[in-house]
Amino acid sequence: MACSLFVTSIIVIFLVSYTYGQQCEQTLNAARFDCYPEKNPTQEKCLARNCCWRSPNQRFNLSHFSDVDVPFCYYPSDFPNYEVISNEPTDFGQRIRIFKSQMTYMPHDIVNLTVDLIYETEQRLRIRIYDTVFKRYEVPLKVPAIEKKADPTDYEIVVKSKPFSILVTRKSTGMILFDSSVSPFIFADQFIKISTRLSSPLLYGLGEHRQSLLINITKNWQRLTFYTRDFPPLENINLYGVHPFHINLERTPDNQTKVHGQFFLNSNAMDVDLQPLPALTYTTIGGIIDLYIFTGPTAQNVIEQYWDVIGKPMMPPFWSLGFHLCRWGYNNTGNLLAMIQRMHDAEFPYDVQWTDIDAMSSHLDFTYDNKNFNGLPDLVRGLQSDGKHYVNIIDPGISSSQPAGTYFPYDDGIKRGIFIKKLDSTDPILGQVWPGITAFPDFTNPDAVEWWTNIAATFHETIPFDGMWIDMNEPSSFIDGSINGCTTYYLDNPPFVPHVLGDSLNSKSLCPSAQHYLSSHYNLHSMYGYFEAQATNQALKTIRKQRPFVLSRSTFAGSGQFTAHWTGDNRATFNDMYFSISAILNFNMFGITHVGADICGFGLDTTEELCTRWMQLGAFYPFMRNHNDIGQRDQDPASFSWEAQQIMKQALLMRYSLIPFWYTLHHQATMESRTILQPLFFEYLNDVNTYNIDEQFLLGRAILVSPNLIAGSDKVHAYFPADIWYELSSGVKLLSIGQFIDLNSPISKLNVHVRGGFIIPMQIPGANLVLGRGNPFTLLVAQSYSGEASGNLFWDDGDALDSVETQTYNYFEFTLKTPNTLTINALVTNYKDSPMRLDLVKILGINKPITSVTVNGKAYSDYLYDFLDQILLIHGLNIDMLAQSSQIIQWTTSN
Ligand code: NOJ
Repeated sequence: MACSLFVTSIIVIFLVSYTYGQQCEQTLNAARFDCYPEKNPTQEKCLARNCCWRSPNQRFNLSHFSDVDVPFCYYPSDFPNYEVISNEPTDFGQRIRIFKSQMTYMPHDIVNLTVDLIYETEQRLRIRIYDTVFKRYEVPLKVPAIEKKADPTDYEIVVKSKPFSILVTRKSTGMILFDSSVSPFIFADQFIKISTRLSSPLLYGLGEHRQSLLINITKNWQRLTFYTRDFPPLENINLYGVHPFHINLERTPDNQTKVHGQFFLNSNAMDVDLQPLPALTYTTIGGIIDLYIFTGPTAQNVIEQYWDVIGKPMMPPFWSLGFHLCRWGYNNTGNLLAMIQRMHDAEFPYDVQWTDIDAMSSHLDFTYDNKNFNGLPDLVRGLQSDGKHYVNIIDPGISSSQPAGTYFPYDDGIKRGIFIKKLDSTDPILGQVWPGITAFPDFTNPDAVEWWTNIAATFHETIPFDGMWIDMNEPSSFIDGSINGCTTYYLDNPPFVPHVLGDSLNSKSLCPSAQHYLSSHYNLHSMYGYFEAQATNQALKTIRKQRPFVLSRSTFAGSGQFTAHWTGDNRATFNDMYFSISAILNFNMFGITHVGADICGFGLDTTEELCTRWMQLGAFYPFMRNHNDIGQRDQDPASFSWEAQQIMKQALLMRYSLIPFWYTLHHQATMESRTILQPLFFEYLNDVNTYNIDEQFLLGRAILVSPNLIAGSDKVHAYFPADIWYELSSGVKLLSIGQFIDLNSPISKLNVHVRGGFIIPMQIPGANLVLGRGNPFTLLVAQSYSGEASGNLFWDDGDALDSVETQTYNYFEFTLKTPNTLTINALVTNYKDSPMRLDLVKILGINKPITSVTVNGKAYSDYLYDFLDQILLIHGLNIDMLAQSSQIIQWTTSN
């Protein structure tokens, strides 16, 4: 950076002094781009930037003053900008050199830039803008490297020369996908700002933030800040993860909707400003501009194109799809055992028991408190012998204040030099977390991964944990910067700080000047959790030689390859339960499909009503964990009244019976880049009613969940897109479709519907997933209007690292075709260690009495037909699904 400064300084620059005049007059309110994003703009400070100033009472009639609104200080139309000096075709697309002859208002403008337009695939464009002369920090993600340009199917690019801007449009409709001409482009050493016009105000993504699913900017101005941060989820603040990816809908005049997406590959602290033009501005304080445009044209296509860049989600171990139970504050083995016993006595299906930091000795990682948690290793082995699993917590802060020679993780870490270091020093930077003063492992250092694996392996010999929960990895510290504060170095004092909580980059974390193996903390802060998850995933593979389970609080784009995620310290309120849905839908888009929220709420005491509703909803979270804060009342299902327990058990049984479907969805996420939970608009793109729905969601493409999110209410106002819908539990067809309806929803009822055209593989639940693995399967066949349906089932041993590579799995395709022929095609049958017997087939939507049923050509008499509800039940089948490559069930009806 210092060198580019030098080049900058040898160029003779004349600042053009702006007089407040014509350039300021033309701008629409919605087209005013903020020239003074810092706090407390004044006319004087604004004019010093050669920007335009209008105080609101002079010009606007604002009805409200939110934090972000029409800016007082905005860019004039002729603000200094870059111009093109050359534009050459290359093998990958185009290389453009741009130059700026006038300085802007931030220190160290970089005047010579290179713009690479990389036509990566037919649907994916990458725009890279970087310093022509000096190499700058780039995000250390392994993204595809493309050498040969692809022929764009449906986008075209126009580069404007003076001022420089890029316009990307959709060829088939002319819709704008990217247009940087809306506002001046600034590229200074620690201040990079680029804007684009959006196709419509219908915008999704941009996490991690607590917000409704649709970020509606029809009228609203909004600012979203990206910098990983430990704070209970609240609106308008930066949270645990960073995912600068969005989806934008394009509505054509003939009411067709297409979708494109955008990913800003940048890990520095940044603001994203949204305004009703509609437009979006990225303001980042480091790195380069590295922007991907995914042209869809469907939402599913955008997801595939995005995950091709960041990596597809990992396949979770089978057991981790079950119910997880955790709390901070079991406090001792006695309480923990008592809770496990009452869950057992009440016969709840459950799979995974967790412990929190209270089970550690003095909050030291890789220890357990052998006084209060005496017998924990045996307790864990006992759970495992019952088919259950155990996960423990590990924080990144490694205590540095234990007597020398007494705490191996620290002593060995110092020896290997794997901690994040203070600026210009070999000493670790020290913060403060649960065990007191701590150092922080630098997971970008390959030696740290080895150290981490070793200490985890040693602890595994004492307590054979099955998965690791990595918390506090934003990284979180109880003090700002370090125990010695931060430095006067430029990284600790940037000229512009995005609107992070606490107003400083070191707020409750480390100094930006701290040094990692790969770069500065300034650059890598938001990737701390990413690298820790990668290292932990690796360590678990080495130690257990099985599919790893990691749960990480902090995430970055691509973390889904290594880890599951939960949405952090929510509270026991109905509002928090509502926000969990958009969070989980967003994380699915971000490629972290194994995701959930703390069921029943983490902070505050839950209530029986809330916890019951939340257990029902949570049964449809990909990652289902009930977790509780220290000091709150118990909230494990067995701690409630008998009535509440029965309802919660029903929800759990519903989840457990659907596990074959869930597991297949995870396989499809890994292989075909499909989200597991998705918003309705993903499937009903032209239906405008779906755009704003975030109180309902789809599991896969086939199951619609409409939870009750309102205290004291026994109705759910739910939308049913035009399709056939059957109630999951009764099989009864819903009559009103293509509209909002009020569904009955007494406390005992969760509304779940199956979409016609789909076949759902299910299984009779066991006490846990391991014990239930050999249980009989069932097929739920939901007929479409034309009497057809299809579905799949993926099945393997649930733990193997390489079942796909070695083809040791089974894969079935189920099809229902007219007339009345259900075929079970066994496409791959290499996993034979567990029986796969089909016992029951339930066909929904049969409106004529059945006259005969045959199975593989032979007459079959064990069936029931319910004329009123139009359901055919073929039971007692006992079909070995692995026995033949194709098996057929048929029926005839009276005319
Ligand atoms: C913060 C985590 O978000 C929470 O889930 C955990 O219980 C506490 N840390 C204590 O470890």
